[in-house]
Amino acid sequence: PATAAPRNPRLGFTSVAPNTADAVTVPQGYDHRVVVRWGDPVVPGAPEFDFAGQTAEAQERQFGYNCDYVSFVELDNGRGLLWVNHEYTNENIMFAGYSDGAAADLEQIRISMAAHGGSIVEIERVGRTGAWKLVTSGRRRYNRRITASTPMRLTGPAAGDALLRTAADPEGTEVLGMLNNCSGGMTPWGTVLTCEENFNQYFVGGEGAPEDVKPKLRRYGIAVQGDTRAGNRRFDRVDERFDLSKHPNEANRFGYVVEIDPLDPDYQPRKRTMLGRFKHEAANTRITADGRVAVYMGDDERFDYIYKFVSEKRYRKGSRRHNDTLLDSGTLYVAKLTGNSPAEEIDGSGALPEDGEFDGSGTWIPLCDATTSYVDGFTVAEVLVHTRLAADAVGATKMDRPEDFEASPVTGKVYCALTNNSSRTPEQADEANPRANNRYGHILEITERRNDAGATAFGWKVPVVCGDPEDPSTYFSGYDKSKVAAISSPDNLTFDASGNLWIATDGQPGTLDHNDALHAVPVEGKYRGELKTFATVPYGAECCGPFITEDQKTVFIAPQHPGEDGTVEQPQSTWPNGDFPRPSVVSIWHTRGRKIGS
Ligand code: FEO
Ligand code: CA
Ligand code: CA
Ligand code: CA
Repeated sequence: PATAAPRNPRLGFTSVAPNTADAVTVPQGYDHRVVVRWGDPVVPGAPEFDFAGQTAEAQERQFGYNCDYVSFVELDNGRGLLWVNHEYTNENIMFAGYSDGAAADLEQIRISMAAHGGSIVEIERVGRTGAWKLVTSGRRRYNRRITASTPMRLTGPAAGDALLRTAADPEGTEVLGMLNNCSGGMTPWGTVLTCEENFNQYFVGGEGAPEDVKPKLRRYGIAVQGDTRAGNRRFDRVDERFDLSKHPNEANRFGYVVEIDPLDPDYQPRKRTMLGRFKHEAANTRITADGRVAVYMGDDERFDYIYKFVSEKRYRKGSRRHNDTLLDSGTLYVAKLTGNSPAEEIDGSGALPEDGEFDGSGTWIPLCDATTSYVDGFTVAEVLVHTRLAADAVGATKMDRPEDFEASPVTGKVYCALTNNSSRTPEQADEANPRANNRYGHILEITERRNDAGATAFGWKVPVVCGDPEDPSTYFSGYDKSKVAAISSPDNLTFDASGNLWIATDGQPGTLDHNDALHAVPVEGKYRGELKTFATVPYGAECCGPFITEDQKTVFIAPQHPGEDGTVEQPQSTWPNGDFPRPSVVSIWHTRGRKIGS
């Protein structure tokens, strides 16, 4: 924990005003620069981007689409490596005249597959500023593309189980590709955890899957009746494994936390089954009091759950090989949260209960460890592959779309973004999800017992209920609402070294009628709740990232899907170059070299 953190941290900048500009807007005193764009060469020798002449062969070596999670490691030579997730593709603005997956030409489908996954790129500082740019020449030995076709190893207790075996992989231990990698986290040993989220949308043929498999597919949002091909990207047209009528187990091989070592170009990505299978938003770690590793994870679906994994073995600093085994054995838990105010005081309006706080206690319910299932009727492999159904069986608390997690480096408290849930009725409101028709989302703060990430009990509070502060259902820890900025649909989180929480949003289109943003808010001291808007992203984009460098001089953000509802013929965004939209990573810095947030 940082010792120099101020007792009453406060953010110095003046909020950026809400806007609908097709631009990145930063506060006075700050500047920004695009670091890397969709199509930029990644692998040495890759061709320059040619929008009208795209090929899969080129895309496999160029920066992919829809950048989401961003992390950064500094190298010895003053350069750095960026890891970036490529969550999904917007074919409507990638390809002229695109209508749907059924009509797409096969090369377009191959391009989409190659534009998924992730990128590792070497970047360098611009002068002595906090700006960074892509390294475009030289060896770039770490540069790498991961796609929907990259071979990955299944590890952990479910690897090799019958549920994971397919015709192409009778051993059930090697999968091609990762899909819909949304957010993620970095481990204390320097690897990236990149998380497969809405993998359901890539499969067809669910109506032809075996009857006993259908309820499991349905619980993960995979269509099992009617025309399951409509509206799909139709990867099955180039790779039959995406057709569940032929390969019903293929869907069981997606929905994992994937570990990748950015410093080892030969590292085969590992899908860590021990961390369960669901729509993983992110995975963020803390070290327990006795030296093991805890991983906090959200399942981004309305009424789904919060999870925690605690390793069996201890983290050993510097022992790369040992640490590569940490995520393969341990205990997987799901959270149950109980409010401390009478249920009748939580009416779904957002009005505070009489004790003045949405708060309570919680328990981590064990689902399984590497050898024992704690859920009646489920084997260990069934818990890990059908994790949602196991969590249903133990009565976990249904949350408002759990997204990113992040632990404060100052206090150890753990924060979760609950992005929204417009389906929650007043009767379904509870103290941890206190607002019905929760269009704008809220933030959850978890304090583990004795501040130990290995604890099985915790306390919790809701420090922020999002929205326009003029809306009476909002809450900013009691801070004067005339002094806070509007926020909708919190998604990705990070912390600065002073312990301020940074929140990127995904409320577009249409929850607050202005662009998504990166906000920041103190969560300790007398300015707790004083939320400000640090940057806004181009029209139609969500604000992904954010990542603040260790020297606190740069924040990286990743405007994802600018102009997502347009077409090539009628673009709704032309960011960043004035022609067609390109999801990109941006660095933001203070022009006088001050810390981000000053
Ligand atoms: Fe891909 Fe949960 O956002
Ligand atoms: Ca209470
Ligand atoms: Ca997200
Ligand atoms: Ca989101």
